[in-house]
Amino acid sequence: MQTRKLGSTLIDICAYSEIAGNASAEIKIDEIFFEASSVQSFASEQARTDFRWLWMGRYLIEEPEHAFVALEDGDPEQLCGYLVGSLSDPAPRAEFSSLSYFQSFAAVTPQYPAHLHINIARDKRSQGIGERLIQRFVNHAQSYDSPGLHVVTGAGMRNVAFYQRLGFIERARVAKGGGYAVLLGRELSG
Ligand SMILES: CC(C)(COP(=O)(O)OP(=O)(O)OC[C@H]1O[C@@H](n2cnc3c(N)ncnc32)[C@H](O)[C@@H]1OP(=O)(O)O)[C@@H](O)C(=O)NCCC(=O)NCCS
Repeated sequence: MQTRKLGSTLIDICAYSEIAGNASAEIKIDEIFFEASSVQSFASEQARTDFRWLWMGRYLIEEPEHAFVALEDGDPEQLCGYLVGSLSDPAPRAEFSSLSYFQSFAAVTPQYPAHLHINIARDKRSQGIGERLIQRFVNHAQSYDSPGLHVVTGAGMRNVAFYQRLGFIERARVAKGGGYAVLLGRELSG
């Protein structure tokens, strides 16, 4: 666990395995996920479940060793951010076939196969927690000799500046819903 003082509170970055199964922490993760989600209403409960599974649930269940969380004062009940990820290239994988942009990104994802999804509770943003979670995942991916990692976001989104500050560079873009989806990649070797 890595601890750092933020105002009057201490923020710990720890492996998800340290809090997995804690009901309060799991509820917080869900709250943060749906609060930050680009989709706020769902056609059905199944649609909501499928959405959660695609962007977060499958990572926590199938690859929990690559997930990290931020806790206030080390308290799982005060979980204030999470990062889920994978070290493998999502583009050729059947479970991501619903994400059509990977057909366009498949040429570059082999160089940046690791990928992540991150969200911070609204009232805890812009305090450096996201940067610390990313750095933790970077160290983790490097320890597995991953050549690089990527995120996919929307061109012009505020989070693009966040990723660019952390060394991510736009490697590909594709038209999506009147705008562009961009793949931001960061090399990890060297
Ligand atoms: C993007 C995000 C993970 C960054 O974590 P953080 O702890 O706020 O980041 P840091 O404090 O380390 O860095 C701050 C930077 O994050 C970005 N950021 C802050 N609030 C944000 C928000 N509501 N939406 C998007 N990006 C935001 C900005 O680039 C900010 O820099 P700025 O204050 O100079 O504009 C977090 O703000 C968040 O969860 N945002 C909403 C959801 C999101 O965009 N998730 C990523 C999807 S790809």
